[in-house]
Amino acid sequence: MDHEPAPREWTDVAAAQDVGEGLVRVDVAGEPVVLTRSGGVLRALAATCTHLGGPLDEGTVEDGCVVCPWHGSRFDLADGSVERGPASVPQPAYDVRETGDRVEVRARP
Ligand code: FES
Repeated sequence: MDHEPAPREWTDVAAAQDVGEGLVRVDVAGEPVVLTRSGGVLRALAATCTHLGGPLDEGTVEDGCVVCPWHGSRFDLADGSVERGPASVPQPAYDVRETGDRVEVRARP
């Protein structure tokens, strides 16, 4: 699958008021990204599960992790690391910030 390069620059993706403790799917340079506020901190991970492509934005949030709705892989929202399989590859994590009433993300170097 071809992907556009993830943005190195801060990229506006959502209104801050639209991102709460639930999971919100946005599009970042052609890639689905899931946003949430975990413990008051904005988090952003690639939304397509590294296991078999499940939609993480349709999963659940538990203890600072997102749980894939397909096979239950669990990824730390802070850095995308695998907390529980079957996935073995971390989810790409994005830097995320709030500026005024907007949410911006960029690829992590
Ligand atoms: S697709 Fe996400 S755990 Fe299998």
